[in-house]
Amino acid sequence: MSIGHAPTKKVFLKTYGCQMNVYDSERMSEALAVDGYASTETMEDADLIILNTCHIRERAADKVYSELGRIRDIKDERAALGKTTTVTIAGCVAQAEGEEMTRRAPAVDLVIGPQSYHHLPKLIARNHADGKSIVETQFPDDDKFKELPERRRTLATAAFLTVQEGCDKFCTFCVVPYTRGAEYSRPVAQILSEARKLVSHGVREITLLGQNVNGYHGVDTHGKDMTLGGLVRELATIDGLERIRYMTSHPRDMGDDLIAAHRDIDKLMPFLHLPFQAGSDRILAAMNRKHTAAEFVSLVDRVRLARPDIALSTDIIVGFPGETEGEFQATLEIVKTVHFASAYSFKFSARPGTPAASMDGQLSEDVKDDRLKRLQDLLMQQQRTFNAACVGKTFPVLFEKAGRYAGQLIGRSPYLQSVHADADMSAIGKILPVEIASVGPNSLAGVVKSL
Ligand code: SAH
Ligand code: SF4
Ligand code: F3S
Repeated sequence: MSIGHAPTKKVFLKTYGCQMNVYDSERMSEALAVDGYASTETMEDADLIILNTCHIRERAADKVYSELGRIRDIKDERAALGKTTTVTIAGCVAQAEGEEMTRRAPAVDLVIGPQSYHHLPKLIARNHADGKSIVETQFPDDDKFKELPERRRTLATAAFLTVQEGCDKFCTFCVVPYTRGAEYSRPVAQILSEARKLVSHGVREITLLGQNVNGYHGVDTHGKDMTLGGLVRELATIDGLERIRYMTSHPRDMGDDLIAAHRDIDKLMPFLHLPFQAGSDRILAAMNRKHTAAEFVSLVDRVRLARPDIALSTDIIVGFPGETEGEFQATLEIVKTVHFASAYSFKFSARPGTPAASMDGQLSEDVKDDRLKRLQDLLMQQQRTFNAACVGKTFPVLFEKAGRYAGQLIGRSPYLQSVHADADMSAIGKILPVEIASVGPNSLAGVVKSL
């Protein structure tokens, strides 16, 4: 037993959903560290439990409620031992459900939306003082990015950096405009300063995040608007920052200067995640995506002209209300035309409050399952083809962490593939040439070439 040490408070934080939630979770745990919280992987040990939640599809939201069942039991068991457990729901389910959450799950103490988590330490203190649950889901006037403590040192060599939040696009299937609020771009100076801090901590690769990251339009130091292409150029001047990525992009906002940045800036990795959602123009219009299938394909052509080796990834939804078999075939046609290195595909999920949820022609799960399977078979085939073509090539690999076996490290290729190779731990954080020797569906294996 340790003597004379004040007990450290412990926080258990679980993250669901997209990279923006991963980023928010990092910032939350950094803010809590300043407040004396150490992280724990064991829920039973935690004084504070946070679920950073996702509302994008029904299954994502359901997971939160099933987890809350287990949490209630843990909270009761700890209470029997005289220990308090503060249960916090953060993220997009918190934003969407607000008060409803505390009614449905009384074990919940705090409900905090994605724009309010900088107030977390203060709200926990208030809850401890009066024992009342708190729901904070307004979109506050203060800028959370200004209020949060500076980025702390981690062992990571690759980091996320949110540059843009919210969405004004209102695709008819999507909850994000409601859970994340209006589009907002962080000022350039704030982003550069956070990036420099990360690099000073050993980060070599930064992925710029935003729900519509290529719609970024932040103010620069002269008070002028800057696009994502401009921001990438600025970031590329930071010594020690070796790789820049960004996601997620909307086809409508893929500006010429961003495409040109792919041609000109070596540090900008040759990888583009560009969701197209559906291949039929009628469905695209019903989704309010504001582009046609032909426009998407010609955009891909322009990007490939600028950067011929660029790898593409996408998001696709099958079974949108009213989608016919022929319209689904149009989705397969786009996939066959473009060839994706990887992709995420989903069954349409009717989300409360979105226009598509009440559209006519909702399809059965069977139809959606069948379409998803056919689509995923094609996508998997393309991913395997893309990976197989890498054998024999030599890629610069940024080594990130130890692999499963002693002496093995895992890193990333420029195309975001996971690469395994034998290398000394001292190679973590370095970019080394690796000749690819073999491929699996989700990763490559290779040999580090001597310099
Ligand atoms: N801002 C990004 C994506 C945000 S959500 C964009 O505009 O592309 C990530 C993906 O989830 C979406 O691209 C979409 O393919 C999927 N998605 C969103 N809402 C969905 C729903 N109601 N049902 C099924 N998939 C959905
Ligand atoms: Fe959702 Fe569409 Fe906005 Fe993407 S662009 S976050 S899919 S509303
Ligand atoms: Fe999910 Fe919210 Fe991200 S709904 S996908 S966590 S923006």
